[in-house]
This record gives sequence, structure tokens and C-alpha cells, in this order.
Amino acid sequence: MQPLQFTCKKLPIPLLGCAVLLLISLASSCTEQEKNSLLQFLAGLLQDAGLAKLWQEGKDCCEWEGIVCNGNRTVIEVSLEYRGLEGSITPSLGNLTGLQRLNLSCNSLYGGLPLELVSSSTIMVLDVSFNQLNGDLHQLPSSASGQPLQVLNISSNLFTGQFTSATLKGVENLIALNASNNSFTGQIPTHFCNMSPSFAVLELCYNKLSGSIPPGLGNCSKLRVLKVGHNNISGTLPDELFNATSLEHLSFPRNGLQGMIDDTYIFKLSNLAILDLGENKFSGMIPDSIGQLTRLQELHLDFNNMYGELPSTLSNCTNLITLDLKINNFSGELHKVSFSNFPNLKTLDLLWNNFSGTIPESIYSCRNLIALRLSGNKFHGQLSKRLGNLKSLSFLSLANNNFSNITNALQILRSSKNLTTLFLGGNFMNETMPDNAKIDGFENLWLLNIDSCLLSGEIPFWISELANLEILSLKGNRLTGAIPAWINTLEYLIYLDISNNNLTGEIPTTLMAMPMLTSEKTAAHLDKRVFDLPVYHSPSLQYRKPIAYPKALYLSRNKFTGVIPPEIGQLKALISLAISFNNLTGPIPPSICNLTNMEVLDLSNNNLTGEIPAALENLYFLAVFDVSNNNLEGPILTGRQFNTFPNSSFAGNPRMCGPGLNHHCTSVEVGLAPTGSKGLVFVGVGVLYDQMVLSRYFG
Ligand SMILES: *[C@@H]1O[C@H](CO)[C@@H](O)[C@H](O)[C@H]1NC(C)=O
Ligand SMILES: *[C@@H]1O[C@H](CO)[C@@H](O)[C@H](O)[C@H]1NC(C)=O
Ligand SMILES: *[C@@H]1O[C@H](CO)[C@@H](O)[C@H](O)[C@H]1NC(C)=O
Ligand SMILES: *[C@@H]1O[C@H](CO)[C@@H](O)[C@H](O)[C@H]1NC(C)=O
Ligand SMILES: *[C@@H]1O[C@H](CO)[C@@H](O)[C@H](O)[C@H]1NC(C)=O
Ligand SMILES: *[C@@H]1O[C@H](CO)[C@@H](O)[C@H](O)[C@H]1NC(C)=O
Ligand SMILES: *[C@@H]1O[C@H](CO)[C@@H](O)[C@H](O)[C@H]1NC(C)=O
Ligand SMILES: *[C@@H]1O[C@H](CO)[C@@H](O)[C@H](O)[C@H]1NC(C)=O
Ligand SMILES: *[C@@H]1O[C@H](CO)[C@@H](O)[C@H](O)[C@H]1NC(C)=O
Ligand SMILES: *[C@@H]1O[C@H](CO)[C@@H](O)[C@H](O)[C@H]1NC(C)=O
Ligand SMILES: *[C@@H]1O[C@H](CO)[C@@H](O)[C@H](O)[C@H]1NC(C)=O
Ligand SMILES: *[C@@H]1O[C@H](CO)[C@@H](O)[C@H](O)[C@H]1NC(C)=O
Repeated sequence: MQPLQFTCKKLPIPLLGCAVLLLISLASSCTEQEKNSLLQFLAGLLQDAGLAKLWQEGKDCCEWEGIVCNGNRTVIEVSLEYRGLEGSITPSLGNLTGLQRLNLSCNSLYGGLPLELVSSSTIMVLDVSFNQLNGDLHQLPSSASGQPLQVLNISSNLFTGQFTSATLKGVENLIALNASNNSFTGQIPTHFCNMSPSFAVLELCYNKLSGSIPPGLGNCSKLRVLKVGHNNISGTLPDELFNATSLEHLSFPRNGLQGMIDDTYIFKLSNLAILDLGENKFSGMIPDSIGQLTRLQELHLDFNNMYGELPSTLSNCTNLITLDLKINNFSGELHKVSFSNFPNLKTLDLLWNNFSGTIPESIYSCRNLIALRLSGNKFHGQLSKRLGNLKSLSFLSLANNNFSNITNALQILRSSKNLTTLFLGGNFMNETMPDNAKIDGFENLWLLNIDSCLLSGEIPFWISELANLEILSLKGNRLTGAIPAWINTLEYLIYLDISNNNLTGEIPTTLMAMPMLTSEKTAAHLDKRVFDLPVYHSPSLQYRKPIAYPKALYLSRNKFTGVIPPEIGQLKALISLAISFNNLTGPIPPSICNLTNMEVLDLSNNNLTGEIPAALENLYFLAVFDVSNNNLEGPILTGRQFNTFPNSSFAGNPRMCGPGLNHHCTSVEVGLAPTGSKGLVFVGVGVLYDQMVLSRYFG
């Protein structure tokens, strides 16, 4: 399911060529009345962003910017989108006797939508989308019937109220209504179909509509597009809906719909190209008759309670581009489906189901496949050499299955030169991390995840060659040896998780020189990278871009020794640092107080000594702090956000003192205490801590 993007792209405003001014027809010009109507509209604006200069008095208004006249010098079109106009829309535009098209999209217009425009006897296309218009359309007094209005786009405004049979009464010619991204309430309207025999497009996404899907929609014999995603619609798909056999795009993602997809009806919608019922409560199996929807390009059934095997008839949907079944209870093997029938398939997402068996060979015929996610199932076996056929493959997640032979997997995958995102974690149990001798390629990887595999071996040198890597997780293995000194050659790395291993040695100072963590600026090109599929951390937390990951170092639960290098103060961009459960000694270096972006700091369960540097109070964003079970001494910090941390953050340091600890500070100790300044407390994103503790990326 693609989320809608409600943004106005900034378009360059065309330069006003002098030629336009020379072309003024001397023979005739627009009438005074027309000119005045336009000037009244202008006068109603608070901010015209230079439009008044372009609309000069004395010049023929037919030559004005954004105005189109017909041969009779009658204004027929007003196109003032992306003009920076601010203010209300005066009814005067309704006086333009020949106006057919009015487009005021993407401005900052507010107030109501004048009835004169909606009920105009000439306007056919009215687009006021992407403004801040408000009011209740229901309040528009009913007008004469027979208006020519065909297209009405009021999307992305602040309209409220319900659609009743009085709303837009008399629009007998309406073909398309887009009212998405407002705050409309009540039921999905159906009366447009009855009023207007040509009604074809109804878009109501991102509102507050409720109730069930009205059976009356089945009477909309010309309805091609029905999009009501992101509302509170409940109930089942009514049988009558399947009478709307012209439907090409049926989309109700993120509602409260339930029931089954009925085998005896769905095939009637033989024109369907897009079926999106994701993020609802549908149950049951995918019906066999789905195979009769041969025009189907996108099938989204993600985040439901559906189960059973995929029907073999799915193979008849030969135009499939996207098949998104993630987060359901589907099971069985995939071999019944001939993926070779889907030459256009670009996305196959089966995340978090119960599929088993091996990856069917026929998948390797989908040469246009860009994103393949099989994670969170029970697939097993070794990867096939034919995976190398998937030259467009950019996102591959096999995580949390029972695949075996990681050496084989990496040797095969390295020929997929377009791979940017690779999740392999939770497979290959107890195998050995392949060393450098056999692995190269992967030069385009942004993300590499090989966590929770209990792999033995060392952090391999071939990783140093992944010049584009931003995110690396090797946590939950049995890797031994030291953190390699080459680590800072990964110049874009922002996220490193090597926790839960058997790594030894000191924390190398090169780790304190990671380019992306020492600079508060990130390389601009990283901003443009977008995952081909959102990466799920949990069903409710997802990352769309690699750069959205926290800048983090997770080194906990290893056998690191020595001190925390004072150079840690260089990692200015760091948001999360965890080195708990190691064997670090020495003091908490004061330079750590320079890491002012830090939200999570976990140094617990080491052998650190000395006092907590008082300047840690300057870490305003700190939301999680843990130094428990060390050998620290002196008073606990109490100022600012330190008031919000539980005593357990300091516990297990016998020589520490302070309120809430067994050991109360003596006057000498208090003398050393920090000022305890009371300042603003910034309570940071708790999500980060969940990540740190639960961190299991499923890709
Ligand atoms: C537009 O018409 C209204 C009445 O419908 C009138 O009051 C107004 O003055 C007219 N404006 C112009 C510019 O003619
Ligand atoms: C100009 O006006 C006349 C009379 O109202 C009409 O018949 C003709 O179609 C119009 N021409 C154009 C180009 O709109
Ligand atoms: C109105 O203008 C916007 C921006 O140029 C355009 O995307 C939109 O299609 C236009 N509306 C209609 C109904 O033509
Ligand atoms: C519409 O659907 C209902 C229920 O499925 C059915 O009984 C009725 O015959 C259908 N009407 C038309 C015109 O197809
Ligand atoms: C659909 O698929 C089934 C089984 O895969 C096959 O028997 C049937 O002929 C196909 N129907 C069409 C219309 O292609
Ligand atoms: C590989 O990725 C590049 C850049 O995204 C793209 O232009 C190219 O078409 C892709 N190659 C294939 C075989 O899809
Ligand atoms: C694992 O893959 C490698 C390389 O393809 C192969 O040589 C080896 O025999 C495989 N190991 C097993 C146990 O299948
Ligand atoms: C991996 O090793 C652990 C103990 O070292 C063992 O309990 C587990 O069963 C092994 N898993 C597999 C899949 O071999
Ligand atoms: C780490 O190594 C020790 C022996 O050095 C071993 O006993 C322990 O099980 C290893 N831990 C893991 C998580 O593999
Ligand atoms: C920590 O280091 C000390 C001294 O080097 C050593 O005696 C101790 O066994 C280590 N503890 C662990 C849990 O590795
Ligand atoms: C913090 O950084 C500044 C300049 O970047 C440096 O002068 C200062 O010594 C650092 N503070 C500590 C405690 O390292
Ligand atoms: C902590 O370090 C001291 C020496 O500084 C050592 O004697 C002690 O055994 C260490 N404790 C642990 C639990 O490793």
C-alpha cells in the first residue's frame, strides 16, 4: 500500500515573456464586467504574491497571467495554481459568464468555498485542492439542477461535515469528486451515482468517515475509481458492491473492515487493476476466483487476519506488479503459484506469515523484481544460483527463516549488483561468517543485516569494501576477535550494532573517528536514498529511509576491556550509545559531555570507576541513562533530566551516594556534588530505548 503524499511540489513560475504584451488584440478585449470580477477576486486576497503587478489595469484581461479567453474574448479559464495566493475566495469569480475551468490548487486560500462557483451554470472543472478552505459543504443551499460541473477537487483542505443527499445537489454531470484529506464525517455518499449517470471517480481517503460501505455504491455502473483509505469504515464488503463492475481501482486501506473476500462475487470486478484492502480485519483465504481478475496489477492484503495457501489460480493474474500479503497468517508452500507468469512483478512482500518450503524456482523468472521480502516465515534451503538472474533486485529480506549456507548465499548475492538493502539475520544458525577470500561485490549496499545467526568467526574484511554502507548489524552472533581498525573507512556508516557477540580487545580509537558520527552534517546524497519497501522494526515502527535510523553505536554484551577512549567526545552526531555488559575500566571520560545530541546512554554492567561527570547535565535530550553495576563513586546527578531517571540507573555502585540509594551522601560528598540546576527537561523519544532493548529488525 502506497501512502499518499499530500504535498504541493514547488513549480517554477514561468517568466512572463514580453511577447505576451505585444500580442494584445486591439480589435477587442475582455469586457469591463469580466475585468472587474477578476479584480474583485484580487482585492479579496490578503497576499497576491505579485499577481496585481501582472494583472495591470488598462491591459486586456484576456492577456493576464493565468487567464484564458475564447475567440469572443470571454474568460473561459482561470489557472492560478502555485501562486502563493493568500486570503479568501470572493464569489465574484462566479460572475465570469463563460468560465469553464477554475484551478486555484496549491495556494493558501482560506474561508469557505463560494456557492456561486459550485452552482455556476458554466464551470465544468473546479480545483481548489491544497488550500486551507473550511466549512461544511452540507451548508451550501441547494441550487438549481443541471449544473455542468464535471470535476470537483476539494482535497487537502479543512472541510468538515457530512455528505448528505443535499450535498452538491444538482450536479447531474459530475464525473469525479476528490474530497480526500479533509475532516469529513458520516457515511460514504452514494447519491452522486444516482444524480449523475456518468459518475466515475470517488476519492475520500484520509477523512473521518464511518459506518459501513453503502450497498448503493453497487448502482454506480460507471464507477471506475473508489478510494476511501484511512477512515473508520467498518462492516463487510457488501455483495452489491460487486455490481459496480466498471471498478478498476478499489481501495480501502487502513479501515476497520472485516469478513471474507467472497469467491462468488469478487470475479465480477473483472476490470480491477488495483485492489487494496490492507490494514483491515479481513479473514479467510484468497478466493480461487481471484484468478479471473486478469487485469490485476496490484493486490494489497497486508495487515489482515487472512490465512490458507495461495491459490494456484493466482497464476492467472499475469499483469501483477505488486503482491503485498505481509503480516497475515498465510501458510503452505508457494510452489502452486507460477511466478513465471508474472513478468512484470516488481514487489513481492510476504513478511510475517507462516509460509514454508523452499523458494520456488519460478520466482527467479521475475526479471523485473525490485523488492523481495520473505522474512518472518519458515522457508528453508539454500539459495539458488538463479537468484543472480534478478538483476533489478534492490531490496532483499530473507530474515528469520531457516535458510542455510551463508557462504553460498553471499556468493550468489554478490552478483546482484543493484542490491541496496539486504536482511539475512535469523538464518544460517551456528555457521561460520565467510571470510574475505570468497566474498566481494555488494558495492551498492546501504544496509547489511546478519544478526541473530550465532555465526562464529570474526568481523570479516570484505565488509570494509562496502563503500556505501549506512547501517550494519551483526548483533547476536558469536563473533570473536577485535573491532577492526578499518571500521572508520566506512565513511557513510551511521548505525553499527555488534552487540551480543564474543568480541574482545579495546574499543579502538578509529571507532571514535567514524566520519558520519563525528560530523553533525550528513552527506546530502544520503537524504535521497529511500528503501524500496518500508523497513519494519515492529508493526508500528517503520523506516522509509536509511538516514532515518538513529545515529548509534551498540557494543553491549561483548568482552571489551580497557577504557572508554576519551576521543568518544568526537562522535558529536551520536544519539544512542550502549556499551553495557563488557569489562571496561577507568572513568567515564568527561568528553562524553560534549555529545549533546545523545538520547540514550547505557554504560551499565562494566567496571567503571570515578565519579559521574557533572557536565552530563548538559545532555538535554538524554531520555535513557544507565550506569548501574559499575564501581562508580560520589553523588548521583539530580539536575534537569536526571530527575527523571529511576534509582535503578545508578544501582549496584556501592560507593555512590544520593537520595534513593542505600548510601546517603556525607557533607564532603555533597560538596563535590554538581549544582543540581533546574532547567528544562527534554524527555526524548522512548522508542529509541525500545529499539535498543528489543532491537530486532525484520526488514
Ligand atoms: C457579481 O454579481 C453580484 C451579484 O450576483 C454583484 O453583487 C457583484 O457586484 C458582481 N460583481 C461584478 C464585478 O460584477
Ligand atoms: C462566440 O459567441 C457566439 C454567440 O454567443 C457563439 O455562438 C460562438 O460559439 C462563440 N465562439 C466561441 C469561439 O466561443
Ligand atoms: C490544477 O493544477 C494542478 C497543478 O498544476 C494540476 O496538477 C491539476 O491537475 C489541475 N487540476 C485540474 C482539474 O486540471
Ligand atoms: C446487485 O447485487 C445484488 C446482490 O449481489 C443482486 O441480488 C442484484 O441482482 C444485483 N443487481 C444487478 C443489477 O446486478
Ligand atoms: C486459471 O488457472 C487455473 C489453474 O491454474 C487453470 O486451470 C485455468 O484454466 C486458468 N483460467 C484462465 C482463465 O486462464
Ligand atoms: C540498477 O539500478 C540503477 C540505479 O538505480 C538503475 O538505473 C538500473 O536500471 C538498475 N539496473 C537494473 C538491471 O534494474
Ligand atoms: C555451501 O555452499 C558452498 C558454496 O556454494 C558449497 O561449496 C558448499 O558445499 C555448501 N555447503 C553445504 C553444506 O551445502
Ligand atoms: C546452535 O547451537 C546451539 C548451542 O551452541 C544449539 O543449542 C542449537 O540447537 C544450534 N542450532 C542449530 C540450528 O544448529
Ligand atoms: C564466548 O566465548 C566463550 C569462551 O571463550 C564461550 O564459553 C561462550 O559460550 C561464548 N559466547 C557466545 C555467545 O558464543
Ligand atoms: C574483567 O577483567 C578482569 C581484569 O582484566 C578479569 O579479572 C575479569 O575476569 C574480567 N571479567 C570478565 C567477566 O571477563
Ligand atoms: C568539548 O569540545 C570542545 C571543542 O570541541 C573542547 O574544547 C573541549 O575540551 C571538549 N570538552 C571536553 C570535556 O572534552
Ligand atoms: C574491576 O576492576 C578491579 C581492578 O580495577 C578488579 O580488581 C576487579 O576484579 C574488577 N571487577 C570485575 C567484576 O571485573
